[in-house]
Amino acid sequence: IRVAVVFGGRSSEHEISCVTAGSVLSVIDADRYEVVPVGITRDGDWVLASGDPRRLAITDGRLPEVAGDGASLALPFSGGSGFLVVSPERVPQAIGEVDVVLPLLHGPFGEDGTLQGLLEMMGARYAGSGVFASAASMDKVFMKVLLAGQGIKVGPYVAVSDREWRRERKRILDDVAELGGVVFVKPARAGSSIGISRVPDAADAEAVTAAIEAARAHDPKVIVEAGISGREIECGVLESLDGGAPDVSLPAEIHVAEGFDFYDFEAKYLSSSRLTIPAELPTEVTERIRGLAAASFEAMGCEGLARVDFFYGDDGEVYVNEINTLPGFTPASAFPQMWAASGLDYPALVDRLIQTALR
Ligand code: DAL
Ligand code: MG
Repeated sequence: IRVAVVFGGRSSEHEISCVTAGSVLSVIDADRYEVVPVGITRDGDWVLASGDPRRLAITDGRLPEVAGDGASLALPFSGGSGFLVVSPERVPQAIGEVDVVLPLLHGPFGEDGTLQGLLEMMGARYAGSGVFASAASMDKVFMKVLLAGQGIKVGPYVAVSDREWRRERKRILDDVAELGGVVFVKPARAGSSIGISRVPDAADAEAVTAAIEAARAHDPKVIVEAGISGREIECGVLESLDGGAPDVSLPAEIHVAEGFDFYDFEAKYLSSSRLTIPAELPTEVTERIRGLAAASFEAMGCEGLARVDFFYGDDGEVYVNEINTLPGFTPASAFPQMWAASGLDYPALVDRLIQTALR
């Protein structure tokens, strides 16, 4: 079975995608699967990349990236209707028919439905969510609208479109001030905490404006979320192989390393932040969170896998903060660790994703 592992890409999470791919490539069963490592450079060139996991790791705090010097590619898909010829200005390297694609891309042009649309048109099979669930889950505003619309509790927020920011700035700043207390200002369609600022006082118009401008450097659409005082919990979800309800892992709790105000990029990947798995919670709360993880997966129409992130508020409420359709698989990432603690080790998890996609 030939598996194209696609990583890198044009989003600001390029490096994290490489680290994710490195981890997956180091455990993929070479007897069962023939791997084609497909790198996408920051500029969007598709190349036959090095699949050497050692070149795709964080070494001495340095992050890996896809080099643009690989051969470009022509990808045929078994059972598919087309040939994906990428970077055609160079002579493409033809490879055998690809049976399944493992898109290990985070953020825009990979996690957001664009790659999924391309693969649908080619008739290719791929792991993970389809076009709509990917696009809706990438957008922190639409995700909350869809979840809340199906009765799932999300925290208070203000959406800031490009047009609104240019024409209704005063109204936006008033709405944000009304959230009160600490707020988090985020690009609506990014990940790994890139472009996120914590503003201690929602009524500080100057600080909120600066934070919105900083987020807009990554995405013209921004979301301002009320800070929820409580604990940060996450859960992994996998589509069931037999068409039943999705499987949900044990929850993890995030403990942000000392010296960080919140779980930002550095705290996530380059610090001593830790996870407790399973999170030490009353059984009733654990079950509530796991139920909400499955409900969120279904509410968004996700397929394959997802990670759902929660706040367990000091008020006793559980809030869904977000859903990630291609969660990180780095050595620091919660998703594979939560599954390992739930009885599915890392190689078995990767195998399961491929098998789900092949059905
Ligand atoms: N966006 C990062 C990779 C995550 O959700 O884990
Ligand atoms: Mg995310």
